[in-house]
Order: sequence, then C-alpha cells, then structure tokens
Amino acid sequence: MTFSRRALLAVGPGFLAAQGPANDRIRLGLIGAGGRARDLFQEVLRAKENAHIVAVCDVWKVNREAMSANVAKAFDAPPLQSTRYQELLARKDIDAVLIATPDVTHPRILADAVAAGKDVYVEKPFAVNFADGKMAWQAVKNSKQVVQVGTQRRSDSGLIAVAQAIQSGAIGKVTRVSMDYHFQSPRWNKDLSNVRAEDVDWQAFQFGGRITGPFNARKLREWQLFRETTNGISGLWLCHLIDLAAWFLNDPYPKNAMTMGGVYLYKDGRETSDVYQTMIEYRDCLVTFAMSLTNAAGGRNLWFGTKGTIDAEACKISADGSLLPDRVTQPGPIPRAPGVESHMANFLRCIRTRQTPRASVDAGFSHAVAGCMAATSLETGRRVRFDPVKLELA
Ligand SMILES: NC(=O)c1ccc[n+]([C@@H]2O[C@H](COP(=O)([O-])OP(=O)(O)OC[C@H]3O[C@@H](n4cnc5c(N)ncnc54)[C@H](O)[C@@H]3O)[C@@H](O)[C@H]2O)c1
Repeated sequence: MTFSRRALLAVGPGFLAAQGPANDRIRLGLIGAGGRARDLFQEVLRAKENAHIVAVCDVWKVNREAMSANVAKAFDAPPLQSTRYQELLARKDIDAVLIATPDVTHPRILADAVAAGKDVYVEKPFAVNFADGKMAWQAVKNSKQVVQVGTQRRSDSGLIAVAQAIQSGAIGKVTRVSMDYHFQSPRWNKDLSNVRAEDVDWQAFQFGGRITGPFNARKLREWQLFRETTNGISGLWLCHLIDLAAWFLNDPYPKNAMTMGGVYLYKDGRETSDVYQTMIEYRDCLVTFAMSLTNAAGGRNLWFGTKGTIDAEACKISADGSLLPDRVTQPGPIPRAPGVESHMANFLRCIRTRQTPRASVDAGFSHAVAGCMAATSLETGRRVRFDPVKLELA
C-alpha cells in the first residue's frame, strides 16, 4: 500500500499505526456522517486497533461524500456509499457499525444492527422515547453483540478517579449533586445555504414516518431544535451528566423527575428549550441539572457528601460543607486513573475479546430512562416516576 503525503496530512499521525494484517481487520460501517461522525473517524484512527471504515451511509450527499473522501484517503480504498442503513447491515463484509445519526433514530438502527449480527458503537442518547429505548435494550440483551454507548465520559480518566473516590466513601454519603452547564450562543443553528432537496434522500430521513412533512432543510441540519428528532436538552446534554449519577451512585434508575424550561431567548421557531432545569431523585440522593444557552457561566459539577465535596469538573476533593470530625483531611486534586484507553479503543478491543465495553447497554438504558423521565415531565408539567419492577414510566 502506498500513501501520498497529502493523504497522511489529512488524517493525522495515528494513520500508519492504524494499519495491520487484513485477516485481523475490523471492518466498520459508519451510519450518519456529520459532525460527531468526524470525531469518531479520528477516534478510529487514533485507536490503532486495525479497524477500517469500509462503508459510509448518510441521507445527505454533501456529508456522505465529504466523509467518503476522507475515508478513502485514510484507508486507501473508497468506501461503499449508501443513503439506507439497511444496505450496510445486509453486508457480510461489515463487522460493526458506528451510529451517529440524529437522536430519534438510535434505538431502531441499534436493534436492526444487532439483529443483523453487527457489533455497535451507538451515539448518545440511547433513546429519546421510552418505548423505543426499552425495545432496543431488550434487543441487545437478547443478542450476543458487543455494544458501546457513546457516553464517552465513562472513559475519562478524571471521572473514573472521581467514581472510585465517591464509591470508596471519600466524601461520606452523597445526598445532593448540582450540575450546571451554560453556553451563550444560539447553539445548534447551522448554515443551510448548501442544503438542496435533490441531495437528500428525504424518505430515508423521515425514518418510517417518525419525521413528518415535505423536505425541510432545518429539520435535516438543525434537528437538535425539533421535537420529532430529539427530546432536547434531556437527550442532547443531560444524558452525559445523569449517566454519572447512575455510575457514581451505583443506582441505575431514578425514582422521580421534575423539569421546567422553555424557549426564553432564541425565538427562532425552535421547539426545544434554551433554558432548562430538572430535579432527578435517586435512592437517597437528589440531583439537579441546569442548562442555559443564554449565559456563558460555564460548567459546574458538584457532589455534596457528609464528609466533604467533590468538584467532578475540576477533579478536586475538599472538606467544604462538612462539620463532621472525620471530614476530608487531604483536600486537593484527585489523581487521574492511569492507563485508560479511549472510548473507541475500548469498543474495538471489546469486539475482539467479546467483553462488555465501559458504557454498556445497561448504562445506556439507565440514562435513557432518566432522560425520558425529565423530558416527559417538561412536556406534561408533571412529576414522572419510574417503576423498576415493571420497567415503565408512571
Ligand atoms: N458523544 C458526544 O459527545 C456527542 C457530541 C455531539 C453529538 N453527539 C450525538 O451524535 C449524533 C449525531 O450528531 P451530529 O452532531 O453529528 O449531527 P449532524 O447533524 O452533524 O450529523 C448527523 C448526520 O446524520 C445524517 N442522517 C440523518 N438521518 C439519517 C438516517 N436516517 N440515516 C443516515 N444518515 C442520517 C445527516 O444527514 C447528518 O449528516 C446525535 O445523536 C448527537 O446527539 C454526541
């Protein structure tokens, strides 16, 4: 195999190491080729696990062709291109798929992929509709496939160390968590000038009728703003952070959720909130998560225990807030966990070993339960409960 200097520059330094014997190669199909897929492509290269992307599916020609060109350069072979993900799943020469399509599509594509015998890296959120999430979770549980959910904070060495500190009782019993994230921009607005109806397989995008109406460039490119394609901040952001609660507290399902929010500033036709706050109650712990797109106050992620406080964003422990004699005695940075492989490297290695990846399907279902509870509460104005025996929202 020979490579031009330009191709090497385009894909970065991980490229040569990503190669390996063809008979040991993991053949990947990429479903959805937008912003997040570009990150996943780089992650595949950086992982150096002898994985090649051999197929690219996207309903929009512009993203599909741009990604295919990068893939062709990186792996010295043009990928199969399609607008229909089912065509990739039918291929025997694809071992696994990476799903990076809009939120609403994840559970159906995941369930179809495991039924077709593919291993799957599925972007977060696991689901934005409870029934869809339960269906996909059961489909994966009934399969032998390896599934990594794209909540990559599970592979963050700082957060792994924080999880260990909290679970070992470093700050005593944690009964309150406060998470706040703020960005001052009309986030998710896109340039629509290059979106033409003839370049889009609109029927495939409509996803069996889940997305309604004639061609609409905003629905395709600004899907984050519309209720048919996402449940808003619950799926776009809360899922990453509430995943930490299930993980650190070792408690998979919340008991209750109550949410308020709305479009307070960006009155541009969007349906999903630009200001949002939810209260999610776990066993003996109340978690609040707030987000606004209207102010740039940044991010805070505070875990309050009887013996002190952990700032998970800064990876720091302190005795702040504790009056107990056995409160934290050594405040300061929490050392990061050593030797943590990337989220993608973890997935690719698990394909070979058949181990469960770090963000398992159970973790994905957990964050989907919390996210769907929070979103349902926002829509109905009511407190939403979860029944962990019947596995139903109430
Ligand atoms: N893990 C993270 O940190 C992270 C960060 C950003 C986005 N995400 C998630 O990744 C997913 C993709 O987000 P994005 O920012 O890349 O969006 P995007 O709009 O940039 O890309 C989505 C792509 O999917 C294509 N698409 C739409 N429907 C399709 C279908 N049915 N079949 C095939 N292709 C289809 C679109 O044409 C587009 O190219 C979302 O679920 C998002 O929540 C995760």
